[in-house]
Amino acid sequence: MPAALIFGITGYAGSALARHLVGRGWTVRGIGRSESAAADLESLGVEVEIADVGEPDELKDLGRSGDHAFYLVGSISGHPDWTERVGLDGVVNAEAALADAGIASFVLVQTMAAYGRGSDETITEATPTQPNSQLGRISLLAEQHLRNALNKRGFPARFVRAGTIYGPGRRTVEALRNKRLRMLGGGENLSSRIHVQDLATVLAAVAEHGRSREIYLAVDDEPVSMADYFDHLADRANVPAPGSTPKWLARAMIGGFGLTSKLTKGHAPLGHNLYALVTGNYACSNAKIRNELGVELAYPTYIEGVETLLADEGDHD
Ligand SMILES: NC(=O)c1ccc[n+]([C@@H]2O[C@H](COP(=O)([O-])OP(=O)(O)OC[C@H]3O[C@@H](n4cnc5c(N)ncnc54)[C@H](OP(=O)(O)O)[C@@H]3O)[C@@H](O)[C@H]2O)c1
Repeated sequence: MPAALIFGITGYAGSALARHLVGRGWTVRGIGRSESAAADLESLGVEVEIADVGEPDELKDLGRSGDHAFYLVGSISGHPDWTERVGLDGVVNAEAALADAGIASFVLVQTMAAYGRGSDETITEATPTQPNSQLGRISLLAEQHLRNALNKRGFPARFVRAGTIYGPGRRTVEALRNKRLRMLGGGENLSSRIHVQDLATVLAAVAEHGRSREIYLAVDDEPVSMADYFDHLADRANVPAPGSTPKWLARAMIGGFGLTSKLTKGHAPLGHNLYALVTGNYACSNAKIRNELGVELAYPTYIEGVETLLADEGDHD
């Protein structure tokens, strides 16, 4: 049976991937920082090591021959120094730690930040990148590092750009109910989303059947504006739809404070990176994951996916 090594195994997407792979009989190991999340996973037979990707010494001897490695450590809303530490330094350290281990694949998971403001046309894997944020630039530097390692040493890197990851356990309905979630500028821009369980399916397919050097967009069938998504979720969960903050005000607050949690009552700090991501226009195609990898999505659109948030959070009032 295949073996996985997941960086960020205690995170939202990393733990869902671990559970998905365990369910398919894989041997799963990984690293994270949260002891309590690690304990939950260990009860499933997953081996979790507490380590910091920013510390090369802590990553020594991690890799085993034949491992499929998944890198799911990143920061969308953190301080820029932290974004660089986990999004670039950590990738460099992970590659160094695994360089001689004979791993089968290394799947780097990133956001759409490389596409900057996005496009009015459908984004595909062939769309040129044009980052407009530190996160976007860091993502491309990390990717370039792995491309160099692939060219020089055959490091089996492949690249996943994921849409907004949603699903049960994010406490989104709770955030709506407590008015801790706001849209920017009316939320009319389109974004592509992916249900966390479908992301796990895509990542396993990229590892097992994908090709090194390739980019794969992990998104569902139907791009949706933030306004339409949250209106639908609020309606189904019977909670208030989120209000909207004008973009100029959000920009002024970020400009003044660097990172601000004022708009979201401490929910997700809003900085330049998150601002760029949530105001971009990303209507992405999933033709490549469907046609090349044969991926079948359990939640092809947010309409089906949103239902899983309601049951999880017991939010029918
Ligand atoms: N959220 C989205 O909508 C979205 C969309 C596209 C792409 N992505 C990217 O997908 C990846 C996973 O996202 P997510 O939402 O699952 O993130 P998440 O819940 O914040 O998980 C991040 C994981 O990284 C670990 N981590 C953080 N800093 C670390 C460090 N210095 N050393 C070792 N581990 C560290 C965390 O450990 P602890 O939890 O134990 O601290 C956690 O396991 C990220 O790279 C993110 O940028 C996210």
